[in-house]
Amino acid sequence: MGRTAGEMVSSLLGLWLLLCCWGCLGSAERRAPPDKIAIIGAGIGGTSAAYYLRQKFGKDVTIHLFERGEVGGRLATLSVLGEEYEAGGSVIHPLNLHMKRFVKDLGLSTLQSSGGLMGVYNGETLVFQESSWFIINIIKLIWQYGFQPLRMHMWVEDVLDKFMRIYRYQSHDYAFSSVEKLLHSLGGDEFLGMLNRTLLETLQKAGFSEKFLDEIVTPVMRVNYGQSMNINGFVGAVSMAGADSGLWAVEGGNKLVCSGLLQASKSILITGSVMYIEEKTRTKNTGDPTKMYEVVYQTGSETRSDFYDIVVVATPLNRKMSNITFLNFEPPIEEFHQYYQHIVATFVKGELNASLFSSRALDKLDLTTILTTDNSDLFINSMGIAPSVRKNDNPQPSTDGTSVWKIFSQETLTKKQILKLFLSYDFAVKQPWLAYPRYKPPQKCPSIILHDRLYYLNGIECAASAMEMSAIAAHNAALLAYHRWNGHTGMIDQEDLYEKLKTEL
Ligand SMILES: Cc1cc2nc3c(=O)[nH]c(=O)nc-3n(C[C@H](O)[C@H](O)[C@H](O)COP(=O)(O)OP(=O)(O)OC[C@H]3O[C@@H](n4cnc5c(N)ncnc54)[C@H](O)[C@@H]3O)c2cc1C
Ligand SMILES: *[C@@H]1O[C@H](CO)[C@@H](O)[C@H](O)[C@H]1NC(C)=O
Ligand SMILES: *[C@@H]1O[C@H](CO)[C@@H](O)[C@H](O)[C@H]1NC(C)=O
Ligand SMILES: *[C@@H]1O[C@H](CO)[C@@H](O)[C@H](O)[C@H]1NC(C)=O
Repeated sequence: MGRTAGEMVSSLLGLWLLLCCWGCLGSAERRAPPDKIAIIGAGIGGTSAAYYLRQKFGKDVTIHLFERGEVGGRLATLSVLGEEYEAGGSVIHPLNLHMKRFVKDLGLSTLQSSGGLMGVYNGETLVFQESSWFIINIIKLIWQYGFQPLRMHMWVEDVLDKFMRIYRYQSHDYAFSSVEKLLHSLGGDEFLGMLNRTLLETLQKAGFSEKFLDEIVTPVMRVNYGQSMNINGFVGAVSMAGADSGLWAVEGGNKLVCSGLLQASKSILITGSVMYIEEKTRTKNTGDPTKMYEVVYQTGSETRSDFYDIVVVATPLNRKMSNITFLNFEPPIEEFHQYYQHIVATFVKGELNASLFSSRALDKLDLTTILTTDNSDLFINSMGIAPSVRKNDNPQPSTDGTSVWKIFSQETLTKKQILKLFLSYDFAVKQPWLAYPRYKPPQKCPSIILHDRLYYLNGIECAASAMEMSAIAAHNAALLAYHRWNGHTGMIDQEDLYEKLKTEL
């Protein structure tokens, strides 16, 4: 009381100057970090989100990671006669820089994919067969497909080249508020447009021959995404890159990256299934009413709940896969009706019936991978001798002629079907998956920002599903959450970043 207007103004001015100076002196963010963050799903997406959120928000924030199954999610191993094999996500591209970085920082070791020989089966015979002689392979490829393999390589390189820009943006802390904006920043309209055109359209337009598309490209799509040429062009390029050389995996299993990141991020793992998320107003210890998200989850037979400032959903949002209900949001947050492709991985220890694949049976035993063309009579997508997750176990037929084969199929294989592929077998075990989206361009990607401080990672799978894509989405969401928390709008959705950063050191 009793203060004059002049005094008021000058004290306000003083306060303003003081705030301004704090702003000028170093830390641009004036806001205290959040108290608690929840992440739902401990696959590679959720665990890398924990890692990046810790990096951005510092040591004081409590991070809870909810997982209802195993840490690793779609990265999982299966045991076959005492050896472990990758049953889900298995190979990593040499230019997947986030995955590479994780493995290095966590002190894990890598295994190089040993090439082996590949053949393509059309239901009757092998339409293409690799030779162990490099020069013969080249001659064979040119003889059968001309320069199309080389042109394909260049097309993939071009997509990869643009894609790699994301690492530069992220290392400079830039974030994107939607998958579309992220892709657009990498290569403009044309790059983003790949999501809306089928791979078939894209490659036909680029002049690739039907024979090459049927006998080489389609089989690669079938092994990597269990689908044909009707997927979008971007995931098609990612899938073709998955046929590059230099692919690797983590020794002991790729899922070790997830448990490693969980530990390194000093997050708390909560074993339970999240059922509901609702925004509520809470009074914090500071006395201020604050909007928080209540996460209701089931652990054992108990239902519990806790409150969070920020929530990151790191599992595909659909009834079959996560079954999370968002209560009382306006506008409502609906589940995304993204259909996920059912794929079964079956491991069989047995001796291949080589004469099924070719009449010249005897020299077929050296194939380690058999891909297939798009033939509705075929009951498998692919089969290959599986490398174990331990070192020095190159896929080679053992002396008795038997090997552990990994077979991908749309449906569960019957005993009769397995006996059609093998002369005999003594062990079979299967792992069914809702593996990756069924791609049907044109498609619109789900949002990243579901609500004020509620983020969603798996929308990125609409562009392409891969370990690295989840890691990129996680890094982006951590940066986005951080910048939005602190009001750094200049770090979100910047246009012409490529040009801007080119001139920076
Ligand atoms: C057979 C197969 C082969 C593949 N091959 C490759 C490959 O070679 N290379 C590659 O890069 N990628 C590959 N992928 C894709 C890759 O595995 C996935 O893109 C990636 O693992 C997805 O990780 P994520 O963390 O986003 O999701 P997920 O791994 O699915 O993690 C989500 C987690 O959330 C949990 N969860 C779900 N709902 C709830 C809930 N309500 N409460 C608590 N927890 C919940 C789930 O249990 C799960 O652990 C393959 C996938 C499959 C299935
Ligand atoms: C989803 O969860 C609700 C309760 O939250 C339950 O009634 C329903 O059976 C679940 N659906 C599936 C497919 O698991
Ligand atoms: C192997 O496959 C060939 C060709 O389909 C078939 O004629 C033969 O009976 C099979 N052998 C066995 C042991 O099943
Ligand atoms: C792609 O198609 C979707 C759905 O038809 C549309 O909403 C979107 O604007 C299209 N995007 C581009 C870049 O053409």
